[in-house]
Amino acid sequence: MINSRGVALLLATAIALVTLAFTSLVSEVTPTILFVVTIISFGVSYILSQLTLDFLIFKEINNIYDMMDKLRNEEFSEIDDHEGTSLNPLRKINQEIASYAQIKEKEIKELKRIEAFRREFLADISHELKTPIFAAQGFVHTLLDGAVKDKSVRKRFLKKAAKSLDGLNMLVQELLTISQMEIGEIRMHPEHFNLYEVVEDVFDQMEEKSERKGVTVNFVEGCEHKAYVFADPQRIYQVMTNLISNAVKYNNEGGEVLVDLEVGKEDVTVFVKDNGLGIPPEHIKRIFERFYRVDKSRSKDLGGTGLGLAIVKHIIEAHDSKVVVTSTLGKGTIFSFKLPKGEAPDEDDELFVEELDLDSSEE
Ligand SMILES: Nc1ncnc2c1ncn2[C@@H]1O[C@H](COP(=O)(O)OP(=O)(O)O)[C@@H](O)[C@H]1O
Ligand SMILES: [Mg+2]
Repeated sequence: MINSRGVALLLATAIALVTLAFTSLVSEVTPTILFVVTIISFGVSYILSQLTLDFLIFKEINNIYDMMDKLRNEEFSEIDDHEGTSLNPLRKINQEIASYAQIKEKEIKELKRIEAFRREFLADISHELKTPIFAAQGFVHTLLDGAVKDKSVRKRFLKKAAKSLDGLNMLVQELLTISQMEIGEIRMHPEHFNLYEVVEDVFDQMEEKSERKGVTVNFVEGCEHKAYVFADPQRIYQVMTNLISNAVKYNNEGGEVLVDLEVGKEDVTVFVKDNGLGIPPEHIKRIFERFYRVDKSRSKDLGGTGLGLAIVKHIIEAHDSKVVVTSTLGKGTIFSFKLPKGEAPDEDDELFVEELDLDSSEE
């Protein structure tokens, strides 16, 4: 093993020998002078080499200690990695530690983020579940405590309890969808289909709800009837249901919801416009977060879970696209997204294909 003292000793001996050799060449030198010169050169070079080596080694070791200290205190940002390569092995170790620390820092940050996210999600879920359970529980207990004898109260309370449980059911189902999407269990099954027809189906399904609210739901005048896209029809149906039901829900009586389909060269752009309440600019960024609602109490009254737009975002992103929102408070909101253009079936086959579709859906 070479240590700093050994190296210094070797260096000093070499220097002393060289000095001795050169001094002996001088003619009038006495043995005493030779001896003194050799001893002095040996001593001085020994001390100097040892000091230099120690200084270099100690400095790097101290650096390592410093870094260890920071690692212990998790002060990752203060660890600077020495750029460039060095021949000094200690310096190399230093660099290794620094880059290791950087990797660990990233990992720890990510873990902390996931942990915070998990905790928040759990808190949110418990909170969201609590409300409908609490309501249903209240009605059932009141019934048990005697209200069941009053016929009119009985029906009203049972209806209310059922409504809470329906809400609970919807919430759990949407939660399931979201978590499956996040794990990647739900795959998109893209097909070529006419988006116009899918939106028509959504309109039919929404008719009662929108009529009750006094909101009209329609296509924009002159909207393209043949808007073939390549996407997952069921998921897009879900997206359109969510967007249109929001546009109806967050609207005023007599309001209007318009859907437009613009067929471009490579994709079809879908617009869902309403002239309802609008979204305040500071909230727009957050409405796609799960459970985020602009007006908590109003949304709950309207039967919202706060998950609709989170699901919409997931589905559209799974189609490699994104949802764009523009909104003016008090004037209305426009949601839009693009889907890749699909192929229209051959005109002659169209009837045949539709029949086939009907057959398969009945199975
Ligand atoms: N068309 C719209 N007009 C105004 N506000 C909207 C519209 N769509 C969504 N929002 C706001 O975004 C929030 C999140 O929407 P969503 O995720 O569908 O949850 P939910 O409808 O269950 O409350 C809603 O609570 C509402 O405040
Ligand atoms: Mg919604």
